[in-house]
Amino acid sequence: MENNKLLQVKNLKISFPYGKDRIQVVRGVDLEVGEGEIVGILGESGSGKTVSSTAVLGLISDGDGRMDEGEIWFKGGDLLKLPEHKLEGIRGKEIAYIFQDPVAALNPYRKVGNQIQEIIKVHRLEIKKEGILGIMEDIGLDNANLIYNMYPFQLSGGQCQRINIAMAMICKPQLIIADEPTSAIDASLRRKVLNLFKQINKKYGTAMMIITHDFDVARFLCDRVVIMYGGLVMEEGTVQEILENPIHPYTKELLKCVASLNEGEASLYSLEGMPPNPYELKKECPFCDRCKHSIDPCWEGIPPMVNLKEYRRARCVHAESHKG
Ligand SMILES: Nc1ncnc2c1ncn2[C@@H]1O[C@H](COP(=O)(O)OP(=O)(O)O)[C@@H](O)[C@H]1O
Ligand SMILES: [Mg+2]
Repeated sequence: MENNKLLQVKNLKISFPYGKDRIQVVRGVDLEVGEGEIVGILGESGSGKTVSSTAVLGLISDGDGRMDEGEIWFKGGDLLKLPEHKLEGIRGKEIAYIFQDPVAALNPYRKVGNQIQEIIKVHRLEIKKEGILGIMEDIGLDNANLIYNMYPFQLSGGQCQRINIAMAMICKPQLIIADEPTSAIDASLRRKVLNLFKQINKKYGTAMMIITHDFDVARFLCDRVVIMYGGLVMEEGTVQEILENPIHPYTKELLKCVASLNEGEASLYSLEGMPPNPYELKKECPFCDRCKHSIDPCWEGIPPMVNLKEYRRARCVHAESHKG
């Protein structure tokens, strides 16, 4: 393995029980994050972004989720082969996860300062209170000393999100995974939080996996983008390739929605139909029924991934024509 590949997720398959059956909601996901790189995972709600990313930390216990297949490599070692205590050491310390709901991610009964202290204790770090206040100020929490002694309910959503970011940063992780980091905060704070991620990445070289359904977040923050749908990777490319030269009809439709929003058109363009429910996922391409370009082979099986070059691929029968 090349050493600049920090995280490699290989053929990840995850299922949940639905009635008597188990249904796979993540159906063979491959993705990579290089050292210091910011990778965006995009797709509509229900695509499998959260389930795939929590699996990286072995946290899919929620609702009997089960990893059926796959490998998760971090810094050249297979995380799934590690004993739980070793994994605990990596969780939070080397890979930090920022959950989608910044308020729910905090313990409501404890002052935020204590919650940050707890992480320091668990990972046996030598950081004094001044150090914590320094990090809090670094990420734009004014009156850090005051906030340190407050409970989450006394803080705004934006402040809670910053506390989560401070908790993620405290161990100087090599990788931060952030699930929709701006969806629970208001628009005025969004740009600030995104700037913060950018600064952290620049200052500490922290690699990031940013889960979002917002192309603007990707445009602002990411080097590379992975588009997911129906538990599969549909396309991958640099931000520029995805925005300027999308291959998959799904990506193209998503971009049309964004363009229509940005141009403030009177009638917004929206993608017809709904993302599939897990029990509707069949043998065909999951986007088939919403795709204007579907042809017979699309209904006969999940299209194979067409690899155009490193980190440039699309799972579409029409992608073959993009081969140089
Ligand atoms: N605990 C669970 N039990 C059953 N199904 C789940 C559970 N968590 C997620 N799913 C299903 O897995 C699919 C992917 O979910 P998720 O990863 O949360 O999507 P995304 O983050 O892209 O919106 C969805 O269809 C969702 O309904
Ligand atoms: Mg999600």
